[in-house]
Amino acid sequence: MQMNTKIISIEEEKASPEALKEAGEIIKKGGLVAFPTETVYGLGGNALDETASEKIYRAKGRPSDNPLIVHICRIEDIFLIVEEMPETAKKLADAFWPGPLTMILKKSGKVPDTTTGGLDTVAVRMPGHKTALAFIQAAGGYVAAPSANISGKPSPTLAKYVEEDMGGRIEMIIDGGEIAIGIESTIVDLTGGIPVILRPGYITREMLEDVLGTVDVDKAILEAGSKQAPKAPGMKYKHYAPQGDLTIISGRQEKVVAEINRRCEEMEKRGERVGVIGTDSTVSLYRAGSIKSAGSRGEEATIARALYRILREFDDEGVTVIYSEAFEGKTGSKGIGQAIMNRLLKAAGHHLEQI
Ligand code: TXA
Ligand code: MG
Repeated sequence: MQMNTKIISIEEEKASPEALKEAGEIIKKGGLVAFPTETVYGLGGNALDETASEKIYRAKGRPSDNPLIVHICRIEDIFLIVEEMPETAKKLADAFWPGPLTMILKKSGKVPDTTTGGLDTVAVRMPGHKTALAFIQAAGGYVAAPSANISGKPSPTLAKYVEEDMGGRIEMIIDGGEIAIGIESTIVDLTGGIPVILRPGYITREMLEDVLGTVDVDKAILEAGSKQAPKAPGMKYKHYAPQGDLTIISGRQEKVVAEINRRCEEMEKRGERVGVIGTDSTVSLYRAGSIKSAGSRGEEATIARALYRILREFDDEGVTVIYSEAFEGKTGSKGIGQAIMNRLLKAAGHHLEQI
C-alpha cells in the first residue's frame, strides 16, 4: 500500500517537541517512523506490538526469521523485556550506554515472538543520539528498529537514502543529517558463559574485554569461507551490497594500485562502468572510473562513516564493477578495522583477492 511519507528535519540533534509527539503517536498507533541514531538510520515500530514488526518486515522486504533490535531510552526500561539482567549486562550498560552496543539477553514474555523472529532471546540497545532517545521516549519506550534500508542494500547513513528505500512505505522519516559512525552497532551475546561478539562494530573486542575480561568472537565472522552459521541470524544474509560487482584487492599498496588500474582499464574497454574505493593517500594514483576516497587509514572512523554512502553513490552512478582496497585485518585487527572489513567483505560476497 502506498502512503504519504512525511519528512521532518531536525537541527543539531534536536527535534521540535511537536514533531517528536507526532512521531511518537504514529508508533503508538502501530505505524512506522525512520529515525537517526549514531550508527545508521533505523526503521522504528512498537516493539511490544506484534503487528508492527510484521509491518517492518514487509517494508524492508526482510525475512521474518531475522530478529529485530529493541531500542530503549533509559537503562531501567530493560527489566520489562528481559528475563534476567546478568552482571555482565549491567557492567556493559554502565560502560557503553547510551551508545553503539547491542546486548543479546533472555527475553521476557512481554516481547512478542514476531519481534525476535521466534527466538527466546532479545537484542537490546540504548542508542547514543539525542533525537533517537527523545523519539523512543515519545513512542512509549520500546522501539524495534532494523536499519532503514530495503533488505540486502547498504544501511542508510543519509536521510535521502532512507527516502529512496522507504518513501511511500512508512508514515514518517526524521531527517537528522549525515550519521556520525556509519556502521551498525556491535552485537554481544550475553546468554552463555563467555560473552560472544556476533557482529563487530565501533565498540571493539578490546573495549569489551577491558570491562568483562575474556570475550570471544563468533567464528562465522572471523573466517571468510566459514561453513558455520552465524549466531546473529541476519549475518547469514547477503548484505550491504551495491548493484555493482565488488572485488577487494589486498596486498602491498603500490601493487594494489597498479592491479586496480590495470583491471579498471580492461573493464572499461569491455563497456563496464567502474568504481574505485581508495583512501586519501591513494586516490590521486587511480586513473579510470569513478574514484572515491573512503577516508584516512590513520583515522579508521572516517572510513566507517563513508563506506555505505560510497556504495550507495556507486548505485546512483550506475557503476557495474567496483574495486576496493582492503581495510586491515579481519582477525588480529584492533579498533574499528575489523568491523569495516566485515561489512566490506559481505558487500563483496567475500570476493577478496590477495596479490
Ligand atoms: O546500529 C544498529 O544496530 C542499527 C540501528 C538502527 O540501531 N540496527 C540494526 O538492526 O543494525 P538490523 O536489524 O539491521 O540488524 C540486527 C542484527 C541482525 O543481524 C539480527 O539477526 C541480529 O541483530 N539479532 C537481533 N536479535 C537477535 C537475537 N535475539 N539473537 C541473535 N541475533 C539477533
Ligand atoms: Mg540491517
